[in-house]
Amino acid sequence: MASSARPSFSLGNETLQVPLALFALNRRRLCERLRKNAAVQAGSVVVLQGGEETQRYCTDTSVIFRQIASVLMSKNPSVLLTLRGVNTDSGSVCREASFEGISKFSVNNTILHPEIVECRVFKTDMELEVLRYTNRISSEAHREVMKAIKVGMKEYEMESLFQHYCYSRGGMRHNSYTCICCSGENAAVLHYGHAGAPNDRTIQDGDMCLFDMGGEYYCFASDITCSFPANGKFTEDQKAIYEAVLRSCRAVMNAMKPGVWWPDMHRLADRIHLEELTRIGILSGSVDAMVQAHMGAVFMPHGLGHFLGLDVHDVGGYPEGVKRIDEPGLRSLRTARQLQPGMVLTVEPGIYFIDHLLDEALANQAQACFFNREVLQRFRGFGGVRIEEDVVVTDTGMELLTCVPRTVEEIEACMAGSDKAFTSFSGPK
Ligand code: GLY
Ligand code: MN
Ligand code: MN
Repeated sequence: MASSARPSFSLGNETLQVPLALFALNRRRLCERLRKNAAVQAGSVVVLQGGEETQRYCTDTSVIFRQIASVLMSKNPSVLLTLRGVNTDSGSVCREASFEGISKFSVNNTILHPEIVECRVFKTDMELEVLRYTNRISSEAHREVMKAIKVGMKEYEMESLFQHYCYSRGGMRHNSYTCICCSGENAAVLHYGHAGAPNDRTIQDGDMCLFDMGGEYYCFASDITCSFPANGKFTEDQKAIYEAVLRSCRAVMNAMKPGVWWPDMHRLADRIHLEELTRIGILSGSVDAMVQAHMGAVFMPHGLGHFLGLDVHDVGGYPEGVKRIDEPGLRSLRTARQLQPGMVLTVEPGIYFIDHLLDEALANQAQACFFNREVLQRFRGFGGVRIEEDVVVTDTGMELLTCVPRTVEEIEACMAGSDKAFTSFSGPK
């Protein structure tokens, strides 16, 4: 623990001091919510089960411990884990209970209690400070990668550089997820980088790169994707696809504010992609008709974004099991699809040329009619482009946490070694 006026966690040097008060406040928020929840019996106790250190199979080598972000709760949503006779007047949370006797409370199947989900979806100011930090350091690390990349290097060398920067400069021992370092056609593989595809391709001249990497600090995540040409100079086709995605990303960020429905943002991004693919000549016909035929999902077969916080895919949304609960006051569960101040999300539109999806679409009469096959052929093997930003919804719009070069000019200048400042997108004025 760092010595300071307010007790905090930090690795020292220039790393962020995370105040213990952040966690105390979260415990208080949870207890206050539970006390007001008529479905929670008086005298209930919250028991949070921590993670356990694990070993690499049956060796003496332990895997670096990372505390679990989720907690153990009763399956029956009307009852938290109730331990009668325990005085909870103080509202404190019992953090060291033994789980030996857990079976006597019938806690077998567990879900995350909705009140905890609610607390996690809406971030406190102290949490936002940590997320600003994880984004700042990870953004700097992405810029280092863009400056260092050279044709002929291996994808994993870039992963290594990112990790080195995050750890040595930011004290981030963990990444929020396995680095996705795609070059060329690998960018069409959405979760590239896993053990079966370990970022081991040699980067070629003419490749687009798609690097999705985020550092983690005291369990707080970041999740950033940068797409850029390996050789530092966009071709006309690369620029066209890149700017299509940049346009959708910025249109979404411009539109984000409290009350906006997230599925509408996804529809907005899809529509812009289809307009741009038509302008480029890959598609032709009415964009309305393409929307009707679900053409958006052929090029962006994933969600537009997700909650971000203690985990990279943070809790919230409509997880099975809590969907049916409609208790008054649970803002996140009833309206998880509607933006509200304090929510932190990723905005990550992409356009990918995924052979099997294109082949399926070409074999489907309702979709095949929109394709210009010769033009499409030019983009086979292109891979894809994703732009991923982390944002917090504010009272009037959104605040962008990520700070990396985004326009074609900014990227080319950065890759040419320029440290020239660039203007981070700040939404509508
Ligand atoms: N890095 C995982 C994701 O973008 O959701
Ligand atoms: Mn990502
Ligand atoms: Mn993401």
